[in-house]
Amino acid sequence: MTLPDVKADFPLLARTVHGRRLVYLDSAATSQKPEPVLAAMDEYYRTINANVHRGAYEIAAAATEATERARARIAAFVGGHDPAELVFTKNATEAMNLVARAWGGANLGPDDAVLLTQMEHHANIVPWQILAAERGFEIRWVPLTDDGQLDLSELDRLLDGVKLFGVTAMSNVLGTLNPVRRLADAAHDAGALVLVDGSQYVPHLPTDVTALGADFFAFTGHKMCGPTGIGCLWARRELLEAMPPFLGGGEMILDVRLDGFTPNAVPHKFEAGTPPIAEIVGLGAAVDYLSGLGMEAVREHEVSLTAYALRSLTERYGDDITIHGPSEPASRGGVLSFAFRDVHPHDISQVLDQHGVCVRAGHHCAKPLMRVLGVGATARASVYIYNDESDIDVLADALEHAGDIFGL
Ligand code: ALA
Repeated sequence: MTLPDVKADFPLLARTVHGRRLVYLDSAATSQKPEPVLAAMDEYYRTINANVHRGAYEIAAAATEATERARARIAAFVGGHDPAELVFTKNATEAMNLVARAWGGANLGPDDAVLLTQMEHHANIVPWQILAAERGFEIRWVPLTDDGQLDLSELDRLLDGVKLFGVTAMSNVLGTLNPVRRLADAAHDAGALVLVDGSQYVPHLPTDVTALGADFFAFTGHKMCGPTGIGCLWARRELLEAMPPFLGGGEMILDVRLDGFTPNAVPHKFEAGTPPIAEIVGLGAAVDYLSGLGMEAVREHEVSLTAYALRSLTERYGDDITIHGPSEPASRGGVLSFAFRDVHPHDISQVLDQHGVCVRAGHHCAKPLMRVLGVGATARASVYIYNDESDIDVLADALEHAGDIFGL
């Protein structure tokens, strides 16, 4: 299983910055887009642009058909068997807000508790904090071990009385792959539902929401070769059917009277207003593209590249570089957050940019995790299908330059 060289599929990667080849190492923030995705969106606008679920004319029917076909392909890509279990949202953040507001709003009160982990993205923290301030439930936290794994020694005690456990499948800072199935089994034994943040997982590993044991599973299109503006919430049908609507408006109703409304069937009950049609079509093309490569091959490529990056950076820089998270490539994804000498992450990012290298610097929307790590920010390099060892070599050389300018 070998991944072919796909760089040529991504037009943006052909450009230069500051006279250098672009080395894009920020795919955990957003991925680049391949030709078939750009072409599918362009084709949609050129040939069948019309609103969906509303018109009886030919191109409206074609647009509706294209979005529903994409829904089925995207659901299948994450192991879903029923397209009605896949709700389109704006992004993973909105998907998790949907769960908090619609499920949490109907099910959580002052005597309840929600369990989260200290490595969650703000998108799986703040919606629960907003709701907890209204409803008065408790939020508990799974702590971390020194090597950036979940510390599960107290899991049973933490789960006692919990109604929902929210956990990321892969940390956007540490790269840690969490044992989702094991966590879901423990949560279900304790009577809790499980919300999985799959934003960093779905683009990089074969995904099966049922095998993972998820009740709710959020992910986003733009990190998996798709466009921005489209995310997804997969959830078990009976949960979606029992939940009240999230946003109100057109499309999410069967009937509206002066004295009330009747909600639409799932998934449309949660899709108020005109959806991001071109983006849905684009995400459908993205899952076709990734399926064509094979997600096993994607994972294998990234494990090998991550191993190369961990090895080459630590061999070259020794104690001058600290790479957060698990040291074993098989336990992690290709997200490398690091500290280099005493150079500020923003200075690292700026010097790397002069070499054409794009990395993210900052708190990565995970401030509680930054506090656990005892840092204000990190520099973060993240790899994807279009990266190769030469990209890591350029990163390593550019770091030397950052050290020469800013390091003590
Ligand atoms: N959540 C995205 C990241 O980690 C934006 O960069």
